[in-house]
Amino acid sequence: MLVDIASIGRDPHTGGYRRYAWNDADMALREWFVSAAESRGLDVHEDGNGNQFAWRGSSTEGNALMIGSHLDSVPDGGAYDGPLGVVSSFAALDQLGDFASKRPIVIANFADEEGARFGIACAGSQLLTGVLSVDKALALKDRDGITMAEALTARGRDPRAVGADPGFLAKIGTFVELHIEQGKSLIHSGDAVGLASAIWPHGRFRFDFCGEANHAGTTAMGDRRDPMIAYAVTVLAAQHLATSAGARATFGKLVVEPGGTNAIASRVTAWLDARASSEPTLDRLVDELVAAAIAASDKTTVEMTTESFSPAVDFDAPLRDGLATLLNAPVLPTGAGHDAGVLSAHIPTAMLFVRNPTGISHSPEEFAEDADCRAGVDALVSVIKALAC
Ligand code: GLV
Ligand code: MN
Ligand code: MN
Repeated sequence: MLVDIASIGRDPHTGGYRRYAWNDADMALREWFVSAAESRGLDVHEDGNGNQFAWRGSSTEGNALMIGSHLDSVPDGGAYDGPLGVVSSFAALDQLGDFASKRPIVIANFADEEGARFGIACAGSQLLTGVLSVDKALALKDRDGITMAEALTARGRDPRAVGADPGFLAKIGTFVELHIEQGKSLIHSGDAVGLASAIWPHGRFRFDFCGEANHAGTTAMGDRRDPMIAYAVTVLAAQHLATSAGARATFGKLVVEPGGTNAIASRVTAWLDARASSEPTLDRLVDELVAAAIAASDKTTVEMTTESFSPAVDFDAPLRDGLATLLNAPVLPTGAGHDAGVLSAHIPTAMLFVRNPTGISHSPEEFAEDADCRAGVDALVSVIKALAC
Protein backbone atom coordinates (compact mmCIF):
# COMPACT_ATOMS: atom_id res chain seq x y z
CA MET A 1 0.00 0.00 0.00
CA LEU A 2 2.88 2.40 0.68
CA VAL A 3 4.10 1.66 -2.84
CA ASP A 4 0.61 2.33 -4.23
CA ILE A 5 0.62 5.85 -2.80
CA ALA A 6 4.36 6.51 -3.17
CA SER A 7 4.03 8.88 -6.11
CA ILE A 8 1.18 10.95 -4.67
CA GLY A 9 2.35 14.45 -3.76
CA ARG A 10 6.04 13.59 -4.11
CA ASP A 11 8.23 16.44 -5.29
CA PRO A 12 10.53 15.11 -8.02
CA HIS A 13 13.41 17.40 -7.04
CA THR A 14 13.52 16.91 -3.29
CA GLY A 15 11.92 13.47 -3.10
CA GLY A 16 9.82 14.81 -0.22
CA TYR A 17 6.03 14.78 0.12
CA ARG A 18 3.88 17.88 -0.14
CA ARG A 19 0.56 16.50 1.01
CA TYR A 20 -1.19 19.48 2.53
CA ALA A 21 -4.80 19.79 3.67
CA TRP A 22 -7.13 19.84 0.66
CA ASN A 23 -4.42 20.15 -1.99
CA ASP A 24 -4.45 17.82 -5.02
CA ALA A 25 -2.26 15.22 -3.30
CA ASP A 26 -4.47 15.23 -0.22
CA MET A 27 -7.54 14.75 -2.42
CA ALA A 28 -5.88 11.82 -4.22
CA LEU A 29 -5.03 10.24 -0.85
CA ARG A 30 -8.61 10.73 0.33
CA GLU A 31 -9.82 8.89 -2.75
CA TRP A 32 -7.25 6.15 -2.15
CA PHE A 33 -8.53 5.81 1.44
CA VAL A 34 -12.12 5.46 0.22
CA SER A 35 -11.22 2.80 -2.33
CA ALA A 36 -8.97 0.90 0.13
CA ALA A 37 -11.89 0.83 2.56
CA GLU A 38 -14.60 0.00 0.05
CA SER A 39 -12.58 -2.80 -1.53
CA ARG A 40 -12.54 -4.38 1.95
CA GLY A 41 -16.26 -3.92 2.44
CA LEU A 42 -15.83 -1.08 4.97
CA ASP A 43 -18.28 1.83 5.05
CA VAL A 44 -16.62 5.23 4.78
CA HIS A 45 -17.92 8.29 6.55
CA GLU A 46 -16.32 11.74 6.35
CA ASP A 47 -17.17 14.12 9.17
CA GLY A 48 -17.66 17.86 8.81
CA ASN A 49 -13.98 18.47 9.55
CA GLY A 50 -12.72 16.26 6.74
CA ASN A 51 -11.72 13.35 8.99
CA GLN A 52 -12.37 10.06 7.19
CA PHE A 53 -13.55 6.95 9.02
CA ALA A 54 -13.83 3.44 7.56
CA TRP A 55 -16.13 1.26 9.62
CA ARG A 56 -15.99 -2.51 10.03
CA GLY A 57 -19.21 -3.32 11.80
CA SER A 58 -22.02 -1.02 12.83
CA SER A 59 -21.19 2.67 13.07
CA THR A 60 -24.05 3.14 15.52
CA GLU A 61 -23.24 0.38 17.99
CA GLY A 62 -20.70 2.20 20.18
CA ASN A 63 -17.57 1.15 22.07
CA ALA A 64 -15.69 0.96 18.76
CA LEU A 65 -11.96 0.31 18.59
CA MET A 66 -10.43 3.06 16.44
CA ILE A 67 -7.06 2.59 14.71
CA GLY A 68 -5.42 4.67 11.95
CA SER A 69 -3.49 7.90 11.71
CA HIS A 70 -3.17 10.59 9.00
CA LEU A 71 -2.11 10.85 5.35
CA ASP A 72 -0.98 14.49 5.10
CA SER A 73 2.65 15.57 5.43
CA VAL A 74 4.93 18.40 6.48
CA PRO A 75 6.65 20.31 3.64
CA ASP A 76 8.96 17.76 2.02
CA GLY A 77 7.97 15.13 4.53
CA GLY A 78 8.72 11.43 4.49
CA ALA A 79 6.62 8.48 3.36
CA TYR A 80 5.89 7.03 6.81
CA ASP A 81 4.81 9.79 9.21
CA GLY A 82 1.08 9.25 9.08
CA PRO A 83 0.62 6.82 6.17
CA LEU A 84 2.33 3.96 8.04
CA GLY A 85 -0.46 4.03 10.64
CA VAL A 86 -3.21 4.07 8.02
CA VAL A 87 -1.83 1.34 5.78
CA SER A 88 -0.86 -0.83 8.77
CA SER A 89 -4.47 -0.61 9.92
CA PHE A 90 -5.78 -1.92 6.60
CA ALA A 91 -2.99 -4.54 6.57
CA ALA A 92 -3.92 -5.69 10.08
CA LEU A 93 -7.52 -6.26 9.01
CA ASP A 94 -6.28 -8.11 5.92
CA GLN A 95 -4.12 -10.33 8.10
CA LEU A 96 -7.02 -11.07 10.42
CA GLY A 97 -9.19 -12.03 7.44
CA ASP A 98 -12.74 -13.08 8.17
CA PHE A 99 -12.93 -12.77 11.94
CA ALA A 100 -15.68 -12.14 14.45
CA SER A 101 -15.19 -9.04 16.59
CA LYS A 102 -17.19 -8.05 19.61
CA ARG A 103 -16.66 -4.35 18.92
CA PRO A 104 -16.87 -2.32 15.71
CA ILE A 105 -13.45 -1.38 14.33
CA VAL A 106 -12.93 1.97 12.64
CA ILE A 107 -9.89 3.09 10.66
CA ALA A 108 -9.27 6.84 10.79
CA ASN A 109 -7.54 9.22 8.42
CA PHE A 110 -7.39 12.45 10.40
CA ALA A 111 -7.45 15.67 8.37
CA ASP A 112 -4.62 18.20 8.45
CA GLU A 113 -2.54 16.55 11.18
CA GLU A 114 0.66 18.42 10.34
CA GLY A 115 -0.93 21.84 9.96
CA ALA A 116 1.45 22.45 7.06
CA ARG A 117 -1.03 24.60 5.18
CA PHE A 118 -2.97 26.54 7.83
CA GLY A 119 -0.44 26.52 10.66
CA ILE A 120 -2.32 24.55 13.33
CA ALA A 121 -1.33 20.93 13.91
CA CYS A 122 -3.96 18.23 14.44
CA ALA A 123 -6.64 20.59 13.11
CA GLY A 124 -8.99 17.70 12.21
CA SER A 125 -8.89 16.05 15.62
CA GLN A 126 -8.85 19.39 17.45
CA LEU A 127 -12.01 20.45 15.64
CA LEU A 128 -13.65 17.06 16.20
CA THR A 129 -13.03 17.31 19.94
CA GLY A 130 -13.91 21.02 20.17
CA VAL A 131 -10.42 22.03 21.29
CA LEU A 132 -9.98 24.34 18.28
CA SER A 133 -12.61 27.01 17.80
CA VAL A 134 -14.50 26.79 14.53
CA ASP A 135 -14.28 30.54 13.84
CA LYS A 136 -10.55 30.57 14.44
CA ALA A 137 -10.00 27.55 12.20
CA LEU A 138 -12.14 28.75 9.30
CA ALA A 139 -10.34 32.11 9.27
CA LEU A 140 -6.83 30.58 9.17
CA LYS A 141 -5.03 31.50 5.95
CA ASP A 142 -2.47 29.63 3.91
CA ARG A 143 0.55 31.28 2.27
CA ASP A 144 -1.61 32.45 -0.64
CA GLY A 145 -4.19 34.07 1.62
CA ILE A 146 -6.77 31.30 1.06
CA THR A 147 -8.78 30.68 4.22
CA MET A 148 -9.60 27.22 5.50
CA ALA A 149 -13.27 28.00 4.80
CA GLU A 150 -12.44 28.81 1.16
CA ALA A 151 -10.28 25.68 0.81
CA LEU A 152 -13.12 23.51 2.15
CA THR A 153 -15.65 25.14 -0.17
CA ALA A 154 -13.34 24.69 -3.18
CA ARG A 155 -13.34 20.96 -2.45
CA GLY A 156 -17.11 20.73 -2.16
CA ARG A 157 -17.16 20.69 1.65
CA ASP A 158 -19.47 22.85 3.73
CA PRO A 159 -17.67 25.11 6.24
CA ARG A 160 -20.90 25.20 8.28
CA ALA A 161 -20.41 21.48 8.98
CA VAL A 162 -17.06 22.08 10.72
CA GLY A 163 -17.07 21.56 14.46
CA ALA A 164 -17.13 19.24 17.45
CA ASP A 165 -18.90 15.91 17.16
CA PRO A 166 -19.51 14.54 20.66
CA GLY A 167 -21.88 11.94 19.19
CA PHE A 168 -19.01 10.41 17.20
CA LEU A 169 -16.62 10.50 20.16
CA ALA A 170 -19.21 8.76 22.32
CA LYS A 171 -19.14 5.82 19.92
CA ILE A 172 -15.37 5.29 20.22
CA GLY A 173 -14.25 3.23 23.20
CA THR A 174 -10.50 3.08 22.49
CA PHE A 175 -8.03 4.62 20.03
CA VAL A 176 -4.69 3.03 19.15
CA GLU A 177 -2.53 4.99 16.67
CA LEU A 178 0.44 3.26 15.09
CA HIS A 179 3.21 5.65 13.98
CA ILE A 180 6.79 5.57 12.86
CA GLU A 181 9.13 6.48 15.70
CA GLN A 182 10.55 9.97 15.27
CA GLY A 183 13.63 9.39 17.39
CA LYS A 184 16.15 6.73 18.25
CA SER A 185 14.81 5.03 21.39
CA LEU A 186 13.89 1.80 19.60
CA ILE A 187 17.31 1.64 17.94
CA HIS A 188 18.89 1.82 21.37
CA SER A 189 16.52 -0.69 22.97
CA GLY A 190 16.77 -3.08 20.00
CA ASP A 191 12.99 -3.39 19.61
CA ALA A 192 10.96 -3.17 16.40
CA VAL A 193 7.87 -1.83 18.19
CA GLY A 194 7.35 0.32 21.28
CA LEU A 195 4.54 2.07 23.12
CA ALA A 196 4.17 5.75 23.93
CA SER A 197 4.09 6.81 27.56
CA ALA A 198 3.57 10.52 27.06
CA ILE A 199 3.77 13.43 24.63
CA TRP A 200 5.74 16.50 25.60
CA PRO A 201 3.80 19.78 25.79
CA HIS A 202 4.53 21.86 22.69
CA GLY A 203 3.46 24.96 20.85
CA ARG A 204 3.85 27.16 17.81
CA PHE A 205 4.75 30.80 18.48
CA ARG A 206 4.96 33.54 15.83
CA PHE A 207 7.54 36.30 16.27
CA ASP A 208 7.03 39.49 14.23
CA PHE A 209 10.22 41.55 14.11
CA CYS A 210 9.61 44.98 12.53
CA GLY A 211 12.08 47.59 11.34
CA GLU A 212 12.60 49.83 8.34
CA ALA A 213 13.36 48.87 4.76
CA ASN A 214 16.31 50.77 3.33
CA HIS A 215 19.15 50.56 0.83
CA ALA A 216 21.76 47.86 1.53
CA GLY A 217 24.56 49.95 0.01
CA THR A 218 23.86 53.48 1.14
CA THR A 219 22.55 53.01 4.69
CA ALA A 220 25.37 53.22 7.25
CA MET A 221 25.43 50.32 9.69
CA GLY A 222 24.66 52.66 12.60
CA ASP A 223 21.61 54.16 10.86
CA ARG A 224 19.83 50.90 10.27
CA ARG A 225 16.66 49.55 11.85
CA ASP A 226 17.23 45.98 10.71
CA PRO A 227 14.84 43.41 12.24
CA MET A 228 17.01 40.58 10.93
CA ILE A 229 19.54 41.30 13.68
CA ALA A 230 17.04 40.80 16.51
CA TYR A 231 15.79 37.69 14.75
CA ALA A 232 19.33 36.28 14.51
CA VAL A 233 20.00 36.96 18.21
CA THR A 234 16.69 35.26 19.05
CA VAL A 235 17.62 32.13 17.10
CA LEU A 236 20.90 31.89 19.00
CA ALA A 237 19.09 32.47 22.30
CA ALA A 238 16.61 29.69 21.44
CA GLN A 239 19.48 27.31 20.80
CA HIS A 240 21.12 28.21 24.10
CA LEU A 241 17.94 28.21 26.23
CA ALA A 242 16.61 24.93 24.84
CA THR A 243 19.96 23.19 25.21
CA SER A 244 20.34 24.23 28.82
CA ALA A 245 16.71 23.31 29.66
CA GLY A 246 16.91 19.90 27.95
CA ALA A 247 14.07 21.17 25.73
CA ARG A 248 13.63 21.72 21.97
CA ALA A 249 13.37 25.02 20.11
CA THR A 250 13.25 25.31 16.33
CA PHE A 251 12.82 28.21 13.94
CA GLY A 252 11.98 26.28 10.75
CA LYS A 253 9.83 28.79 8.91
CA LEU A 254 10.66 32.38 8.05
CA VAL A 255 9.16 35.11 5.89
CA VAL A 256 11.31 38.16 5.14
CA GLU A 257 9.77 41.30 3.67
CA PRO A 258 10.35 42.76 1.19
CA GLY A 259 12.83 39.94 0.57
CA GLY A 260 15.41 41.71 -1.63
CA THR A 261 19.10 40.86 -1.42
CA ASN A 262 19.97 44.54 -1.67
CA ALA A 263 17.34 45.84 0.77
CA ILE A 264 17.35 45.86 4.55
CA ALA A 265 14.28 43.92 5.68
CA SER A 266 11.25 45.83 6.95
CA ARG A 267 9.79 42.78 8.65
CA VAL A 268 10.89 39.30 9.63
CA THR A 269 8.19 36.85 10.63
CA ALA A 270 9.57 33.70 12.23
CA TRP A 271 7.75 30.70 13.64
CA LEU A 272 9.12 29.00 16.74
CA ASP A 273 8.23 25.39 17.48
CA ALA A 274 9.08 24.78 21.16
CA ARG A 275 8.68 21.62 23.23
CA ALA A 276 9.74 20.52 26.70
CA SER A 277 9.20 17.69 29.13
CA SER A 278 6.90 19.80 31.33
CA GLU A 279 4.66 22.82 30.88
CA PRO A 280 6.55 24.99 33.44
CA THR A 281 9.81 24.29 31.56
CA LEU A 282 8.17 25.15 28.25
CA ASP A 283 6.59 28.34 29.64
CA ARG A 284 9.92 29.45 31.09
CA LEU A 285 11.73 28.76 27.82
CA VAL A 286 9.25 30.81 25.80
CA ASP A 287 9.17 33.65 28.37
CA GLU A 288 12.96 33.86 28.43
CA LEU A 289 13.10 33.77 24.65
CA VAL A 290 10.60 36.61 24.34
CA ALA A 291 12.69 38.60 26.84
CA ALA A 292 15.82 37.91 24.76
CA ALA A 293 14.01 39.00 21.58
CA ILE A 294 12.86 42.24 23.22
CA ALA A 295 16.34 42.93 24.58
CA ALA A 296 17.77 42.42 21.08
CA SER A 297 15.22 44.76 19.47
CA ASP A 298 17.00 48.01 19.99
CA LYS A 299 15.73 50.26 17.20
CA THR A 300 13.22 47.68 16.02
CA THR A 301 10.13 46.07 17.57
CA VAL A 302 9.07 42.52 18.26
CA GLU A 303 5.73 40.93 19.10
CA MET A 304 5.05 37.31 19.93
CA THR A 305 1.73 35.55 19.24
CA THR A 306 0.95 32.04 20.47
CA GLU A 307 -0.59 30.32 17.45
CA SER A 308 -1.19 26.96 19.07
CA PHE A 309 -0.45 25.15 22.30
CA SER A 310 -0.73 21.43 23.01
CA PRO A 311 -0.61 20.48 26.68
CA ALA A 312 1.32 17.52 28.05
CA VAL A 313 -0.29 14.15 27.36
CA ASP A 314 0.02 11.07 29.55
CA PHE A 315 -1.51 8.13 27.74
CA ASP A 316 -4.06 5.97 29.55
CA ALA A 317 -1.92 3.97 32.01
CA PRO A 318 -3.93 0.72 32.19
CA LEU A 319 -4.22 0.55 28.38
CA ARG A 320 -0.54 1.42 27.87
CA ASP A 321 0.70 -1.05 30.47
CA GLY A 322 -1.64 -3.78 29.26
CA LEU A 323 -0.45 -3.38 25.67
CA ALA A 324 3.21 -3.16 26.75
CA THR A 325 2.81 -6.53 28.49
CA LEU A 326 0.86 -8.01 25.58
CA LEU A 327 3.49 -6.94 23.07
CA ASN A 328 6.49 -7.22 25.37
CA ALA A 329 7.38 -3.75 24.12
CA PRO A 330 9.25 -0.87 25.74
CA VAL A 331 7.43 2.31 26.76
CA LEU A 332 8.90 5.62 25.62
CA PRO A 333 8.02 9.33 25.73
CA THR A 334 7.97 11.44 22.58
CA GLY A 335 8.46 15.05 21.64
CA ALA A 336 6.24 14.69 18.56
CA GLY A 337 2.57 15.68 18.48
CA HIS A 338 -0.18 13.32 17.30
CA ASP A 339 -3.95 13.12 16.91
CA ALA A 340 -3.71 10.39 19.57
CA GLY A 341 -2.59 13.12 21.99
CA VAL A 342 -5.66 15.21 21.20
CA LEU A 343 -8.03 12.22 21.40
CA SER A 344 -6.49 11.00 24.68
CA ALA A 345 -8.29 13.73 26.61
CA HIS A 346 -11.59 12.14 25.55
CA ILE A 347 -10.96 8.45 24.87
CA PRO A 348 -8.58 5.87 26.38
CA THR A 349 -5.77 6.09 23.83
CA ALA A 350 -2.44 4.40 23.13
CA MET A 351 0.28 4.70 20.53
CA LEU A 352 2.50 2.07 18.94
CA PHE A 353 5.83 3.20 17.50
CA VAL A 354 7.68 1.35 14.76
CA ARG A 355 11.48 1.55 14.74
CA ASN A 356 13.09 4.11 12.45
CA PRO A 357 16.69 3.08 11.69
CA THR A 358 18.03 6.62 11.48
CA GLY A 359 15.61 8.40 13.78
CA ILE A 360 15.15 10.98 10.99
CA SER A 361 11.60 12.20 10.45
CA HIS A 362 9.83 15.15 8.81
CA SER A 363 12.32 14.63 5.98
CA PRO A 364 12.51 12.54 2.80
CA GLU A 365 15.13 10.47 4.66
CA GLU A 366 12.48 9.09 7.01
CA PHE A 367 12.50 5.29 6.77
CA ALA A 368 11.39 2.01 8.29
CA GLU A 369 12.56 -1.46 7.31
CA ASP A 370 9.87 -3.68 5.75
CA ALA A 371 10.43 -6.26 8.49
CA ASP A 372 9.75 -3.63 11.16
CA CYS A 373 6.64 -2.41 9.33
CA ARG A 374 5.44 -6.03 9.34
CA ALA A 375 6.20 -6.26 13.05
CA GLY A 376 4.05 -3.14 13.48
CA VAL A 377 1.17 -4.80 11.63
CA ASP A 378 1.61 -7.94 13.75
CA ALA A 379 1.47 -5.79 16.86
CA LEU A 380 -1.71 -4.12 15.64
CA VAL A 381 -3.20 -7.56 14.94
CA SER A 382 -2.41 -8.59 18.52
CA VAL A 383 -3.98 -5.37 19.80
CA ILE A 384 -7.15 -5.95 17.78
CA LYS A 385 -7.37 -9.55 18.97
CA ALA A 386 -6.86 -8.53 22.59
CA LEU A 387 -9.23 -5.57 22.59
CA ALA A 388 -11.90 -6.48 20.08
CA CYS A 389 -12.09 -10.25 19.71
C1 GLV B 1 3.85 16.47 14.28
O1 GLV B 1 4.43 15.59 13.69
C2 GLV B 1 4.59 17.32 15.16
O2 GLV B 1 5.04 16.84 16.21
O3 GLV B 1 4.82 18.47 14.79
MN1 MN C 1 4.60 14.62 11.76
MN1 MN D 1 2.33 11.95 12.29
